[in-house]
Amino acid sequence: MPTASHRVIRQVKRAGHEPSIHGTKLWKSSCLIIDYLHKNPPEHSRTVLDAGCGWGITGMWCAKKLRANVISLDADPAVFPYLEAVASLNGVATTPLVKRFEQLTKRDLGDIDLLVGGDICFWDELVKPVSVMIDKALDAGVKQIVIADPERPTFHTMAERVINKHGGDLINWAVNGSVTATGALLVINNA
Ligand SMILES: C[S@@+](CC[C@H](N)C(=O)[O-])C[C@H]1O[C@@H](n2cnc3c(N)ncnc32)[C@H](O)[C@@H]1O
Repeated sequence: MPTASHRVIRQVKRAGHEPSIHGTKLWKSSCLIIDYLHKNPPEHSRTVLDAGCGWGITGMWCAKKLRANVISLDADPAVFPYLEAVASLNGVATTPLVKRFEQLTKRDLGDIDLLVGGDICFWDELVKPVSVMIDKALDAGVKQIVIADPERPTFHTMAERVINKHGGDLINWAVNGSVTATGALLVINNA
């Protein structure tokens, strides 16, 4: 996972791509999801949606380690040149999709086994779109959802709403390796 100072990332930046909804780096919540999935391999992972993918590392890990077909979704088209650079460094490919959470339909979600999202509920305005995306995903038959966050109040509001409606677990998680991160995971099993 390259940092902002990596040669390929500097090239993309020099070409003028400027993400505008915080898709400006690897957010450490991604590492919480990757570590969780590494330690708890999902039963169903043929197709994965990385919602609010940013530079896309969570989906890339799923493509590489779970051999999943991955859709990398983000509202901000400017993240995708970074995602392509990171994918090329890692020798993986995912399918890019420029779309907002609130535009996802039950049909878009119908073929997805696993929905992941790292640090995607960071504004009050995102509580409803993320909750509704989860409602639709469960209705469409998505088998597992894993959302990670550094425990912003907005994430907890969303998680409480979702757990009250559908059940699920809120799990404290930490990684202590080349990356250190702590946070919480919202995990819903729907298989
Ligand atoms: C904090 S970044 C996290 C990126 C990535 N998941 C990670 O962990 O590195 C949040 C991402 O969500 C995207 N995003 C924000 N609001 C969105 C929305 N309504 N629909 C889809 N993507 C959105 C942003 O463009 C950004 O790339």
